[in-house]
Amino acid sequence: MLSIIEHDFGTPLSKSGKRVSLEIDGFSVDVAEGTSVMRAAASIGIAIPKLCATEMLDAFGSCRLCLVQVEGMKGYPASCTTPVAAGMKVTTQNKKLADVRRGVMELYISDHPLDCLTCPANGHCELQNMAGVVGLRELRYGYAGENHLDAKKDESNPYFTFDPSKCIVCSRCVRACDEVQGTFALTIEGRGFDSKVAASQNDSFLDSECVSCGACVQACPTATLSEKSLIAKGQAEHSITTTCAYCGVGCSFRAEMKGQELVRMVPNMDGHANHGHSCVKGRFAIGYTTHTDRITKPMIRARISDPWREVSWQEAITHTAAEFRRIQQQYGRDSVGGITSSRCTNEETYLVQKLVRAAFGNNNVDTCARVCHSPTGYGLKNTLGESAGTQDFDSVMLADVIFVIGANPTDGHPVFASQMKRRLRQGAKLIVADPRRIDLIRTPHIQAQHHLQLRPGTNVALINSLAHVIVAEGLVNEAFVAQRCEKESFDKWRAFVAELHNSPEEMEAVTGVPAAEVRGAARLYATGGNGAIYYGLGVTEHSQGSTMVMGIANLAMATGNIGREGVGVNPLRGQNNVQGSCDMGSFPHEFPGYRHVSGNEVRHQFEQAWGVPLQSEPGLRIPNMFEAALDGEFKALYIEGEDIAQSDPNIQHVHAALGAMECVVVQDLFLNETAKFAHVFLPGSSFLEKDGTFTNAERRISLVRKVMDAPGGHADWEITQLLSNALGYPMHYKHASEIMDEIASLTPTFEGVSFVRINELGSIQWPCNAEHPQGTPVMHVDEFVRGKGRFLVTEYVPTRERVNDKYPLILTTGRILSQYNVGAQTRRTENNAWHAEDRLELHPQDAEDRGIRTGDWVGIQSRAGETVLRALVSERMQPGVVYTTFHFPGSGANVITTDNSDWATNCPEYKVTAVEITRVSQPSEWNVV
Ligand code: SF4
Ligand code: SF4
Ligand code: SF4
Ligand code: FES
Repeated sequence: MLSIIEHDFGTPLSKSGKRVSLEIDGFSVDVAEGTSVMRAAASIGIAIPKLCATEMLDAFGSCRLCLVQVEGMKGYPASCTTPVAAGMKVTTQNKKLADVRRGVMELYISDHPLDCLTCPANGHCELQNMAGVVGLRELRYGYAGENHLDAKKDESNPYFTFDPSKCIVCSRCVRACDEVQGTFALTIEGRGFDSKVAASQNDSFLDSECVSCGACVQACPTATLSEKSLIAKGQAEHSITTTCAYCGVGCSFRAEMKGQELVRMVPNMDGHANHGHSCVKGRFAIGYTTHTDRITKPMIRARISDPWREVSWQEAITHTAAEFRRIQQQYGRDSVGGITSSRCTNEETYLVQKLVRAAFGNNNVDTCARVCHSPTGYGLKNTLGESAGTQDFDSVMLADVIFVIGANPTDGHPVFASQMKRRLRQGAKLIVADPRRIDLIRTPHIQAQHHLQLRPGTNVALINSLAHVIVAEGLVNEAFVAQRCEKESFDKWRAFVAELHNSPEEMEAVTGVPAAEVRGAARLYATGGNGAIYYGLGVTEHSQGSTMVMGIANLAMATGNIGREGVGVNPLRGQNNVQGSCDMGSFPHEFPGYRHVSGNEVRHQFEQAWGVPLQSEPGLRIPNMFEAALDGEFKALYIEGEDIAQSDPNIQHVHAALGAMECVVVQDLFLNETAKFAHVFLPGSSFLEKDGTFTNAERRISLVRKVMDAPGGHADWEITQLLSNALGYPMHYKHASEIMDEIASLTPTFEGVSFVRINELGSIQWPCNAEHPQGTPVMHVDEFVRGKGRFLVTEYVPTRERVNDKYPLILTTGRILSQYNVGAQTRRTENNAWHAEDRLELHPQDAEDRGIRTGDWVGIQSRAGETVLRALVSERMQPGVVYTTFHFPGSGANVITTDNSDWATNCPEYKVTAVEITRVSQPSEWNVV
C-alpha cells in the first residue's frame, strides 16, 4: 500500500489457459501461451531493458532496446514482440546484446536535454533508468548535430505539460490514446528525424480532441508528458490506494503523497473496475478538496436571514440535538427526517439511516437515488429478484451486441466507455437508443449499427415494439424461458407484446423511430450472440421509468441474455456510491439489503441489534417530505452531502418547502444551494479524509482510505455518531470497519464482507457470503435471485407532460464529461477550461425558425418556470428536442423541470419537459449566482 512504483511486466497478460515451458538465461519458466518473452522473463525477475513497451499496451517493437538471443533463431528478436514457444532457449544478456543496447541508448541520449537533476521525472524516468541499466558512459555523437532541444512546450492543458524536447518518439502516448482511451487524438507526424507527436491537426492539447484522461501521461517513459502538480510539488514519498469519489465506475487510484499533501492521483493497474485507466475527473479534478471555499468550522444561525455564527463542535451538536427534540415534542415524532448521500461511504450512509430509524424513531429517510435510479431498484427487483446490475464491467469484453439505452457512457462513465469501445473496435455490434446523437454512435473505428433516435418519453413504446418483433418473428429463446422463467407471466407478456398496436409500424408514429430500424435492432439483439444492455438515467428519469426497467429485463429474459458473462442488464449508476446508498437502507421502506420495514422477522432482528423498537410503516420519501413541510407537518431535516435545492426538480417548490422548516442541517464540504436554507452547517469530509467503502455500478465494494486529515476535524460518520449520542441514542464506533462489521452481521448479501477481506481480495462484488466467499461477478447464473424470472406487462402510457402550441419543444437533460452533477466539486477545479457554463443544444431547424444562433441567450419557458441559457446549435439534436446539462446552479435547469415523476418510485421526470424558447438579450435572475 505504501509503495510508489508499480511493477510493469512490459506487455499485457495473456488469458490463454494453455501453458508453455521455456528456458530464459538457464532458468525454467512456465507461462500462458501468447505471453511475450519479455513478460515471461519479468515473471521470474529478469528485467529486460525496454522503452517502448508497457504492460498497458500491445507490444510495438520500435525502440530495439529489448533485443534478446534465441537459440536456433537468426538475428536478435525484440523480446516484447516475440511470443514464447515450447522449449525455447533465450539469452537476455551477453556482450553483443549489451553493445547493441548501448548504441540504441546513445542515439536517444544525444538528442535529449541532460537536465536530469531538475527534471520532474528524475527518479522515475525510464530513459534515465535504461541509460543506467545498459551502462551508458559516453556519447560518441555529442550534441553538435541537429536536435530537438529547442522544441516549444505546450502548456495549454490545465493539468499536464507537453515538452517535445524530451520526446523519444516511442509512440507510447499515441498507443495509449488509441488502445486504452479510444480517443485517437494523437499521431506521430513526419518521418525519421522529423517525426514528432501531434495532437489532432497539430492543435494545442486543449484545442485538440484530447479529453484529458491522462493515459498518455501515464504511458510516457520520459518527462515529455508530465503532470503539472508533479512538476510543482516534486516526487511523492508514499502512496495509498483508494477509490475515486466521482462516478459509479469506481476507479481505483494510488494517491501519491508527500506527507499530507497530494502530489498526484495515479490509476491503479490492479484496480478491478479500471485496470489502470481513469478519466479527467478522477485523475485530475481533485483541487476542490483543498479549495478555499471549504467550510472548516461548524456554524449555526436562528433564522436563515441571519448571518452564520462559527461555533465549537460541541455547541453545534448540542444545539442541533436540542432543536430536533424540541421539534419532535412540538410537532410529533414524524416531523423530522434525514437524507443520506450517494457521495458518502457505505458506513456513513448506513449510520444516517440508523440515526433516523433508531434515534429519530421514524423511517423518514431517503436518498438522492430517489431522483436517479430508484426505478432500477423497483424494476429489477420485481422481475429478476435483485435491485442491482447483473454483470461486472469486464463482462463487456465477451459481448457480441452492445445495446446502450438512455446512457451516454463516454461522458457519464468514461472509463467503462473506453473498455466498451475497445470491445466495439474488436467487432462487437452496437445499438443505441437515445434522442440525441451521442458520441458513441460514431467515433474513431466505431459506427453504431442502429441508432434508434426516439422522442423523449417514448421508451416504453420502443421497448414494446422491440419485444413485438422478437415474439412475432419467433426469436424468443424458448428453452431459456421454459427452464428459467415463470410460464404464466411469460404467456401473458407474450400475448401482450404480440398485440398489433405494439408493432414497430404502429409505434413509429409515437416513437418517431422508423419501423425498419426497430426490426433490424431487435433481430440483431436477439440473434447476434451475447447481447448486453447498458442503460442510464435516460431510462429511469421518466414517468414510466420503472416500467421501462421492467421492459428491459423482459427483453433480456425473452432472448436468454442473462445469467452468464457477456450478457445482462446493467444500469450505469451515476454517483460513486449510489449503489451503496441504496444497499445500505436509504429508502424509507427498506432496511439494508432491500428488506421491507413491515417484515416482522427482519425488523425484530434490527430491533434486537439496535436495542430500540422500530416503526413498521414506511416513512416519507423526499417529495412527501416537501409536501409535509408545506403543510406545516415536517419541520426538521438532517442532510448529509446532498444539494437538494439544486438537484431536485421544480426548484421553486423545493425552496418553499425548505423555507418552511425550522431546523435544516446541512453537512457538506461547501456552502451549497441548500445551505441557503440551513440553520446548522456541519463541515463534512472529502473522500481523501476518511476510511470507508464505496460500491460501484457492478456491486463492487472497494476501500476508500484516509490520506490526509479532514480540515473540519471529523469524518462524516463521526459527525452522525456525535449527533446520535447527543440525541440520547448511543453509538460507539471507533473505526469505519466496525460499522461494516455491523452491516455484515445484519445484511445477508454482505455477510462475508469486512475491511480485512476487501483488503485481501482488492474488492468484492456482493453478494458475498458462505455460498460466494469471493463475491459474485455475474448474477442469476443458474436461477434468478427470486427463483423463476418474472415477466411483467409494460403498457405504454404517455407522459402527462405534453407539447402543445405554447410549449412545442421537449427539453431533455444530461451530463458532460468534464463536469459532475451539480458541479460542487468540478466547478472548483480547472475542469472549467472545458465547460464553464451549461448551454442549450438545439437542432438547426428549430434555431432557424426562431432566429437563434450559437452563443445567443435564449429564454426557456416551461409550465414550471423559466430560465435563460446560451444556445448551441447542433446536428446532434433531432428537430423538436432541446437539451441541456445541469452542472451550474446559475443555469436554473431545474427551475423549469416539472414535478411529474415515475409512478412507482417518484423518480422525477427530468428527461421530458415541454418548453418554448425565444431569443432574449440578457440572462434571467436565476443566472446570477
Ligand atoms: S490525455 Fe487521454 S485523450 Fe488526451 S491525448 Fe492523452 S490519452 Fe489521448
Ligand atoms: S511524448 Fe512520451 S510517450 Fe509520447 S512519444 Fe514522446 S516520449 Fe514517447
Ligand atoms: S470514470 Fe468515474 S470513477 Fe473513474 S476516474 Fe472517472 S469519474 Fe472517477
Ligand atoms: S521495448 Fe521492445 S522494442 Fe521497445
